[in-house]
Amino acid sequence: MKPHFNLNNNDAYQAWREQKLASYPINLQQHFIEIANAKSIDAKSLQRITQSCQQINIAFYRFIRKPRNEKKWVHVLGKQVGLLNLDNNLCADNDYLTSLCVTEHKGQHDYIPYTNKRLSWHTDGYYNKPNEQIRGMLLHCSRPAKNGGESLLLDHEILYILLRDENPNYIAALQQEHAMTIPPNILRGKEVRPARTGPVFSFDQAGNLHMRYSARLKNIEWAKDKDTQAAVNFIRQLWEREDSPYILRYTLQAGEGLICNNVLHRRTDFEDDDRIEYKRLLYRGRYYDRVNSLQSLYPDQTCR
Ligand SMILES: [Fe+2]
Repeated sequence: MKPHFNLNNNDAYQAWREQKLASYPINLQQHFIEIANAKSIDAKSLQRITQSCQQINIAFYRFIRKPRNEKKWVHVLGKQVGLLNLDNNLCADNDYLTSLCVTEHKGQHDYIPYTNKRLSWHTDGYYNKPNEQIRGMLLHCSRPAKNGGESLLLDHEILYILLRDENPNYIAALQQEHAMTIPPNILRGKEVRPARTGPVFSFDQAGNLHMRYSARLKNIEWAKDKDTQAAVNFIRQLWEREDSPYILRYTLQAGEGLICNNVLHRRTDFEDDDRIEYKRLLYRGRYYDRVNSLQSLYPDQTCR
């Protein structure tokens, strides 16, 4: 882990904390990185995406003109900022970017992302295998909803700070190997994914903080010790109030997107247009890489 994540190194923590919090409040519109030509993105825009992710773990971008075959160029954008190794989830499209829209396709109807319902706070892939953790995520809006569908985002490093300031024991508790268990995924009586137990906070090979989390009340099993229970309650209270100045809120518009190091996020419910060609459509990529991580976690894998 990096020195500031060491619970015994308060000096490094305080210096890093000060630097992180100095980025707030964030004026989202000023933060948007405008991309003039999605088919040939200039180096400066790519660099700004990387810098924003280094600073707040999220970057917002906007295609000034919608390219033909938009999904392909979103995919290419991801690759250009080091998002190379896509996770193949149960419902991903053939090209491995997932189209998020209200659907009744077989196998998808049990998953809230494919409905217009509210999604609670989570990081992506919290149920994945330990060696297939989602470290990077891309979300691109092709068509917004008629109403709603707002994204709320919180840098997981900020949540780390809020917890550590409240009680460093909360961090230690959430780093435990058995901190959080996700029950198996049973679809029509068949187990499609076994239970997953693991820490909430962990560190990748380069020492970066990674977070697995879901605010789902049902079925998530938290470690029984008092620090884990108190930490989980602390986080829940944050979600109940949702008044933290560190929570970013934005409804992505057509041609806009975000790239992040799998920060905490949720979506509000939305109302869709009745006409299929106007229904909300987002493309999402989940990756095993962080944005422009210096060290590829999977150096032998070629881009799929
Ligand atoms: Fe998500």
